[in-house]
Amino acid sequence: MSVTIPARGVPHSELLTQMAGFRDRDADWKGGRVFSLVYYGGEQHHEFLQKAHNLYFAENALNPMAFASLRRMEAEVVRMTAAMLNGGPECVGTMTSGGTESVLLSVKTARDRARSKNKSLKKPNLVVPETIHVAFDKAASYFGLEIRYARVRGDMRADVRDLESLIDASTVLVAASAPQYPHGVVDPIEEIGRIAQRRKIPFHVDACVGGFVLPWLERLGEAIPPWDFRVPGVTSISADIHKYGLAPKGASTITYRDMSYLRHQFFVSTDWPGGIYASPTMPGTRSGGAISAAWGAMMALGEEGYQHHAGEAMKAARRLVDGLSAIDGIEIVARPDAPIVAYKTTDQSGLNVFALADQLEDRDWSVDRMQSPNCIHLTVTSNHARIVDEYLEDVRTAMHWLETHPSLGSRGNAAMYGMMAKIPFRGMVKTSVLEIMEKMYGPHAADPGFDPMGDDEDGAIMRLVKEYGGKAASLLDRAEKIRDRLPFLEKKRRR
Ligand SMILES: Cc1ncc(COP(=O)(O)O)c(C=O)c1O
Repeated sequence: MSVTIPARGVPHSELLTQMAGFRDRDADWKGGRVFSLVYYGGEQHHEFLQKAHNLYFAENALNPMAFASLRRMEAEVVRMTAAMLNGGPECVGTMTSGGTESVLLSVKTARDRARSKNKSLKKPNLVVPETIHVAFDKAASYFGLEIRYARVRGDMRADVRDLESLIDASTVLVAASAPQYPHGVVDPIEEIGRIAQRRKIPFHVDACVGGFVLPWLERLGEAIPPWDFRVPGVTSISADIHKYGLAPKGASTITYRDMSYLRHQFFVSTDWPGGIYASPTMPGTRSGGAISAAWGAMMALGEEGYQHHAGEAMKAARRLVDGLSAIDGIEIVARPDAPIVAYKTTDQSGLNVFALADQLEDRDWSVDRMQSPNCIHLTVTSNHARIVDEYLEDVRTAMHWLETHPSLGSRGNAAMYGMMAKIPFRGMVKTSVLEIMEKMYGPHAADPGFDPMGDDEDGAIMRLVKEYGGKAASLLDRAEKIRDRLPFLEKKRRR
């Protein structure tokens, strides 16, 4: 089917009705059935954000000289963020389009800073815990760095000794998280800061998810381990306003201890026929709406509003942690420092957590699955307070169902995700995922009824699942055990 621009424009009212209808099969985020992707601060706040976004939706922050309004709001967003992160008067930064851009910039900036000091630097590397956000892997891949992964301890925090052992003369950046996305724990930032200072290496703290929640939890009296600019050695921090900052998409920040770091983020070209070009971040054109709405969110909520939302989110997360821990056969992966919960089925239960995920999806929950270890992830916000009891009840019912239907773990999605996590040859998993992406962005992506995950006759993993089901899973179990005994393969897997 070919989709083309209509020969004649369609009336606005017709289009608006049609677009609203596209939502029919979307996940119900307002109702709290989605645990990431959308951070909802309630209807009043939401409506205010739409207006704040609309006010500047057409303006372009590409040229701050043309739009003093945007320049002012961006500068104020950065100053407010720097103060929240205890950055001091020399702290500087920029807004970006999101966490990934902030992370990409932290790596690019560190690489260019190192190159400015050492022209013969051949293959720069960055050292991170294995739980760091995948955006660092993306950065290493985009900018030609080697990424070195340090082990994490049993509590999922970085193993500082292992991390230090990976640092060498070509290390341009050390990074850790506050908290890390998978399990919500804060890495040992103080200890890593000491190492970074001693080795004279910049240290980035990725607080994309935690930047706008940990400061308020600390004020509420939570025992949050030190992680911001108060920690000596921390040289930059990423913090997303479009997550717990409760701003709409397209708003993150990257702040640096001082201009000696930020200067390496900037791009300037003086010879382009289009004119002298200066750009602080990755894109050219930048949405004015994202800036005005982020500024609006911070001003409208204020410290009081943020503390309220952070406190409610943490309370809901604790109720989930306690409720889930009390269910037979379920355990929390690590006790979190932030409102993020990761839980799994216990080894003793013999139940497949991905089969539990399927059961929850059947009950209209949107489920985030993770691996190493296989578990379910919940990014909890104040909006989830209302669903905690219903969620726990559904987990209890689903667990009971699984106990009486053990074969569910070797079928359908559960088997596919289980295999994806287990297959020792990660290249095979990558090929399968790339096949799905080629479909998702291929010429048939707009066909009616198109489903990139469905009818995947060519996908190697789906073929395995369909043809061998449970047999393949138990073979992979054995392969996994052998692999774990081979330190060399294990090291490769962690890369
Ligand atoms: C710790 C951390 N860093 C970076 C990111 C990437 O952020 P974004 O999805 O806004 O690009 C995330 C997203 O969840 C995150 O949790």
